[in-house]
Amino acid sequence: MDMNSEQNIYEQLGESAGLRRIIETFYANVVQEPLLAPLFPEDIQPVIERQQQFLTQFFGGPPLYSEQHGHPMMRARHMRFPVTNERAEAWLACMNAALRENEVEDELREFVIARLKGPAYHFVNTP
Ligand code: HEM
Repeated sequence: MDMNSEQNIYEQLGESAGLRRIIETFYANVVQEPLLAPLFPEDIQPVIERQQQFLTQFFGGPPLYSEQHGHPMMRARHMRFPVTNERAEAWLACMNAALRENEVEDELREFVIARLKGPAYHFVNTP
């Protein structure tokens, strides 16, 4: 699993099972993060499912999210939540920690975070 291979990110993260472990760790972190937890429903399982579908396609796997939910329009889907700069940072920190906890190697981890930074700050909609 290194960045020089021709595998896409989805494959490098271990496809469905690897991504699932990371996303479960990520939301375990999110619900412990005071800035983020209040925004999420008590039953986090449906959120895990939709995030799995989205990140699968975002990282080069099959287009599961679009098949189920249509055009992602992710910024629009976040408009009903107050996303601040601090929350974008906290979101990325939870993901970075989840990648570390799942022992994703540093180069791949940094690449994944760099890919998520754009969308995270783009979703900021509240000062
Ligand atoms: C910037 C900070 C972010 C915050 C505060 C945030 C917060 C949220 C919240 C509160 C939900 C709704 C949970 C529910 O269903 O009730 C959600 C859904 C979701 N978020 Fe984020 N999010 C952030 C960034 C991101 C990023 C960077 C991505 C991916 C690139 C992402 C992908 C998703 C997806 C796929 C869903 C499910 C959408 C759906 O309902 O179909 N989010 N997010």
